[in-house]
Amino acid sequence: MLRRLHKDQPASFAFTPANYVWAQGQISKYPAGRQASAIIPLLWRAQEQEGWLSRPAIEHVANMLGLAYIRALEVATFYFMFQLQPVGSVAHVQICGTTSCMICGAEDLIAVCKELISSSAHTLSADGKFSWEEVECMGACANAPMAQIGKDYYEDLTAAKLRDLIARFSNGEVPVPGPQNGRYAAEPLSGLTSLKEFDSGRQQYNASAQRAVDLHDTVKRIDGTEVPTTTPWLAKANVKQSDDAKSAAAKATPRAANPAADAQTATGKQPAALIAPRSGLADDLQKIEGIGPALEKLLNGLGVFHFDQMASWGSDEIAWIDGNLKGFRGRASRDKWVAQAKLIGEVGMEEFLIRAKTKNY
Ligand code: FES
Repeated sequence: MLRRLHKDQPASFAFTPANYVWAQGQISKYPAGRQASAIIPLLWRAQEQEGWLSRPAIEHVANMLGLAYIRALEVATFYFMFQLQPVGSVAHVQICGTTSCMICGAEDLIAVCKELISSSAHTLSADGKFSWEEVECMGACANAPMAQIGKDYYEDLTAAKLRDLIARFSNGEVPVPGPQNGRYAAEPLSGLTSLKEFDSGRQQYNASAQRAVDLHDTVKRIDGTEVPTTTPWLAKANVKQSDDAKSAAAKATPRAANPAADAQTATGKQPAALIAPRSGLADDLQKIEGIGPALEKLLNGLGVFHFDQMASWGSDEIAWIDGNLKGFRGRASRDKWVAQAKLIGEVGMEEFLIRAKTKNY
């Protein structure tokens, strides 16, 4: 199947504050120079945030990890779990069409999707609530035919049962996942023939369905408010998902990374930052007049490795940088770093060094 970026792309992407903190935690799991290993969880969280993976989201993650865009694009287009086009606001329905499910009626389920959602896969329903696709075996063959709706499996389906499920989801219900024909799990429909002693005292639903019911997140997207238990070495982030924070995130200019999350300043706006130099090769920032080894180190610590990063700063970003150059406050504006960086981009390093002698920038 050809997997391409969607023709209509949003203008930008930025993680919400809570997701941003979570993403930094994932990156911190890997040693220096190996941050690229965090690409799948970061792409997945971007997809959870937006529902699908847009080009700006893929590029945003690439920037955070210091990766060439094509590397991130390769991952996003390779794995089918990444949705490259908008999905239904309520749920994306994935129908297994492999052998067991096909023999047991998957084609009837696909016909229901075509009728109720859209005649073609990966297309939103008229009300925007649903989308669907056919997928390969999902490992629940003993409960064929089945579908994944949102995060959970709905098994032992019939066309009528799938119709009913879609209608209930559409009304805001979250039907209990698992077998839909009265089976507890994958035992014979006529009941257990062995291991009967385990039949008594069991919980209401099988373990998977029970967990889904307990979490109640079948069609809920992860939003960063979950307890961050996977990075206990980090100081517990006190992420307050206030309305203010949410609206700030909505307005946020997309930025590449925030390795200087601890840096604080009362004024300005933190410029786009990188977690590492692109392609592992930083520009020699000491070529800019006024920047010596200490300041270069400080800038690298703030996620600044390249002249083009500096050339893109506006007055807000300069104010932020000026305020966060500990021991060197005000140097960025005093020494016109942005003008110098722009000139390097315009005339090249050789000509810049000539002009720099007379401060002609
Ligand atoms: S064939 Fe459908 S889950 Fe395996």
